[in-house]
Amino acid sequence: MILVTGATGTVGRELVGRLLALGVPIRAATRRPDSAGLPDGVQVVRADLGGPDGLVDVMHGIDRVFLLSNGPEIPIHDANLAEAAAKAGVDHIVKLSSGRTGDDTATDPIPTWHRAGEQAVRDSGVAWTMVRPLGFMSNALHWADSIRDHDTVYAPFGQGRIAVVDPHDVAAVAATVLTTDGHAGETYTLSGPEPLSPGEQADILAEVLGRPVRYVEVAPDTARQAIVDHGVPDELASAIMALRATALEAFTSVVHPTVEKITGTMPRSFRVWAERHRHQFAEVRAG
Ligand SMILES: NC(=O)c1ccc[n+]([C@@H]2O[C@H](COP(=O)([O-])OP(=O)(O)OC[C@H]3O[C@@H](n4cnc5c(N)ncnc54)[C@H](OP(=O)(O)O)[C@@H]3O)[C@@H](O)[C@H]2O)c1
Repeated sequence: MILVTGATGTVGRELVGRLLALGVPIRAATRRPDSAGLPDGVQVVRADLGGPDGLVDVMHGIDRVFLLSNGPEIPIHDANLAEAAAKAGVDHIVKLSSGRTGDDTATDPIPTWHRAGEQAVRDSGVAWTMVRPLGFMSNALHWADSIRDHDTVYAPFGQGRIAVVDPHDVAAVAATVLTTDGHAGETYTLSGPEPLSPGEQADILAEVLGRPVRYVEVAPDTARQAIVDHGVPDELASAIMALRATALEAFTSVVHPTVEKITGTMPRSFRVWAERHRHQFAEVRAG
């Protein structure tokens, strides 16, 4: 049986769907089982990675774990899970990390948190695989309100390009790693098929939505406030902006062949992602 942590999140829901389709028994961890809205056939359990008590019980009968943690607590949450997994006799941990963890020059918070989390997993003695995606295509949902309201994407670092990846492909790689052999001790950096600037993403959204969408470059602080207004905690919002700034460097624009190598399928384009999420940008016009 596979334990999926972060099962109610962007990647976790895709992964649960994928594993269900493969017919694999799944236990899904969430802090709020009653409102998790997970599909039938999934065993839903309450678990908080911040409270190590009970994590060993949650892993009873589990062979492999998908580890998803988020924000400043990543190092401690990963250590809690890895320690419990070792105690419970889990065979393999697949950790969702971050692409820039592999950039030795990166000293901003998100790769720093993930580096510590990865180390805790390696130190646990349980077999591991690190999955390190570059930026998610779904981050474009932060633009949904301004696109709906006035057909505009406000984003900083207009010259920066990121080879954004569809969370669907991140989940596809994780599902393959969790259900096949030969991935222990491997670190996989994932990207989508092409590097895109925010302006280029706005152009694709315009084509998919069939109406003009303009791009306006804003100061990082303005963009930071917008994601705080979206419910992202302050410290994490600052960390996300520090990470976005690195789009101006070459590292995030590199296309990696990993998704196709692992899954046998080409990574999805931003256009395909946008078509699948078109309804979330749908126009709301008074009168
Ligand atoms: N966004 C990007 O561009 C990007 C790129 C590369 C890597 N990443 C990495 O991807 C991860 C985020 O993935 P995501 O976007 O799929 O996550 P998400 O949608 O933000 O969901 C977060 C998940 O974590 C769970 N969670 C939060 N606190 C928890 C706790 N204390 N104990 C147990 N579960 C907890 C939540 O479950 P409940 O609320 O149900 O408990 C939820 O399922 C982060 O590690 C991030 O660094 C993101």
